[in-house]
Amino acid sequence: MNASELNVRVARKHVEALDICTFELVREDGGALPAFSAGSHIDVHMPNGATRQYSLCNDPSESHRYLIGVLRDPNSRGGSQTMHDLVKEGDALRISAPKNHFPLAHGAAHSVLIAGGIGVTPILCMAERLAVADAAFEMHYCTRSQERTAFVERIARAPFASRVQFHFDDGDEAQKLSLPAIVQAPKTGVHLYVCGPKGFMDWVLDAARAAGWPVDQLHYEFFSAEVVKSDADAAFEVKLASSGRIVAVPKDKTVVQALAAAGIEVATSCEQGVCGTCLTRVLEGEPDHKDMYLTPEEQAANDQFTPCCSRSRSPILVLDL
Ligand code: FES
Repeated sequence: MNASELNVRVARKHVEALDICTFELVREDGGALPAFSAGSHIDVHMPNGATRQYSLCNDPSESHRYLIGVLRDPNSRGGSQTMHDLVKEGDALRISAPKNHFPLAHGAAHSVLIAGGIGVTPILCMAERLAVADAAFEMHYCTRSQERTAFVERIARAPFASRVQFHFDDGDEAQKLSLPAIVQAPKTGVHLYVCGPKGFMDWVLDAARAAGWPVDQLHYEFFSAEVVKSDADAAFEVKLASSGRIVAVPKDKTVVQALAAAGIEVATSCEQGVCGTCLTRVLEGEPDHKDMYLTPEEQAANDQFTPCCSRSRSPILVLDL
């Protein structure tokens, strides 16, 4: 077991809303869990061998448990179905220590938190943290319907309940999220955070970028993304800078798969271009970015890429491996 991994037990599994379960994880040895900050996630190693990332959604001041929320996804590649159908109270799981790729900015004058569906998990944790810090914020929580809305009671009981607005897709027009009103006229010191399904996030981020929000005031984390395969995906080669070895990447294999076949392991987790675990420096050549992890500016710099899903526009990529 990796030194940064932990053995935990499911102390409680709770149906939080339609198709959403929460899992309360405690250390098997009863000890305190590593501290985490709002926006953190853990890797959960499933009994079926898959690894999935879930945001922590409990109060970051707690050390006796981690709370994760899992949506049953009908298009699941095995993660969410396994959690819903096979993982029970009392079961042992192996998890990573928390990692944070979605941290709160320090010293914001105001924070706008926007959650879509199960994307509420890191957003709610942020709201808790901002409320404790007595920082100015507002939270918008969009879901398909009230029965699919997790954490309603927890939010209702929270001291910051009045700062949370619910928006239901099947509700009347008046309560729906008025995105233009929220993103128009970005102001210095105001930070926007969004988490949810990809289409929802694209909608929010596209509107914010069109309204001129500076890159460093927009914060987001994709849970999962369908890696877009294209007929234009072609074979190419990668060269390992350390040894000069060249590995062919066939049209139907990822760089990670081609390297693994050649005996070269690159650490991966999501294999969907959302977590950044496989991030690799590119020394020469032009990557064809297919990830949701790097910002558009980072992608444009072409000096790093995610070999679990991204490809190459040039015949060869020289990698810092
Ligand atoms: Fe997650 Fe590549 S493994 S981005």
